Amino acid sequence: MSTNRLVFPDGFLWGAATASYQIEGAATEGGRKPSIWDTFSHTPGKTVNGETGDVAIDHYHRWRDDIGIMKEIGIKAYRFSIAWPRILPDGRGDVNAEGVRFYSDLVDGLLEAGIEPWVTMFHWDLPQVLDDEGGWANREILSAWDEYVEAITSALGDRVKNWITINEPWVVSILGHAWGIHAPGRKDMREALAVAHSLNLAHGRAVNIVRKNVPDGKVGITLNLSHMYADSDSDEDRAAARKADGFSNRWFLDPVMKGRYPEDMWASYGDIVPEIRNGDMELASVQTDFLGINSYNPQYVKHDPNEPFGVGMVDRGHEKTSVGWPVDPQGFEDLLVRVQKDYDPPVIIVTENGSAWDDEVIGGTIRDERRINYLRGHLNAAHRAIAQGTKLRGYFAWSLFDNYEWAEGYAKRFGITYVDYETQERIIKESGRYYADVIAHNSVEPE
Ligand code: FCB
Repeated sequence: MSTNRLVFPDGFLWGAATASYQIEGAATEGGRKPSIWDTFSHTPGKTVNGETGDVAIDHYHRWRDDIGIMKEIGIKAYRFSIAWPRILPDGRGDVNAEGVRFYSDLVDGLLEAGIEPWVTMFHWDLPQVLDDEGGWANREILSAWDEYVEAITSALGDRVKNWITINEPWVVSILGHAWGIHAPGRKDMREALAVAHSLNLAHGRAVNIVRKNVPDGKVGITLNLSHMYADSDSDEDRAAARKADGFSNRWFLDPVMKGRYPEDMWASYGDIVPEIRNGDMELASVQTDFLGINSYNPQYVKHDPNEPFGVGMVDRGHEKTSVGWPVDPQGFEDLLVRVQKDYDPPVIIVTENGSAWDDEVIGGTIRDERRINYLRGHLNAAHRAIAQGTKLRGYFAWSLFDNYEWAEGYAKRFGITYVDYETQERIIKESGRYYADVIAHNSVEPE
């Protein structure tokens, strides 16, 4: 090993992440009832090839072997989400003991393997019955959310000490309710902003419940963020980048970190802004222990009068992953440094970062050189961000396994472990081996 490797701070948390609907399968087993993703994926035309998470990678039955993969890679922490419809299949009322048992056994298995569980409470699988009541836009469902959070924190809080309340409010609200490309598939920007506000409240309520039920626990929210580069120094392009930043980043960061919505965006949205009641913003911005950041790529923005808000996107010719996202690690560094500077979170955890490529199995191995390059580049960027004072204390690779990539179905492979969807065989990719080496040495080779 060369001596010029870039060493991460002591105790840096190396992990990998998944989400319930993307991996579990067993959609009708163990007392689980439908979520909005079952409904959406079973609606013709909503997902690529009509693919669903009915079976996914069958983690519900294979979790013991899957912990074996985690051990082999050497991850210190595993981020997974709990399927709300396994715990409260009817949205409210009776807690489903079988659902609780599944996660309780998984947690025991992880702890036995020396792996710290990091639990996401909501990674998009809202019980369908709650959407039938109006979904997140209807504040009444917050009482059902409280029941759910009470159930999981009281059942698992003796062993699970790290909690993520909501995964990616931007995706839930905008993709799910304004653009209609994720469940529940609606197209109403006013509703999307109401949903975003409810998610902020749900976050605050969950933080308070964790404080009560898991006094020694840590809790935070995970936001998906993209650094926005103006295409030029012109005032118009800079204003467009600021707008894009407001739409994607600040609308979600400001309420939870500063207790207010950004004024410029509030003015732009005009009469579709959400209703704010007394105490809402205090609740949304309750003190947390860390900020979770999911980030895959920056965006390049120019003024374009023909686009909404005058914001146009520019292709700067970067290499693109198989989902079409540009590979630009500099954007990762700039994002992390900027969030630390503007919001000063006590700790930042990268809860997702990774890339999808068209992997090929040749002679039983997957030589995913481009995923390794992506990983090396982004870990170098993370290291530079830490050197500039960013309080980054952990990194979770997305994803531990190839899995169901939502509306994109199964063709987009983000895993550091390959999954053969016919046989459910798992093969650790070369990138998984590379990551194992990073973890073992707590360091990455410089680029
Ligand atoms: C994020 C999601 C995650 C996965 C990655 C690629 O938006 O949180 O479930 O789909 O993107």
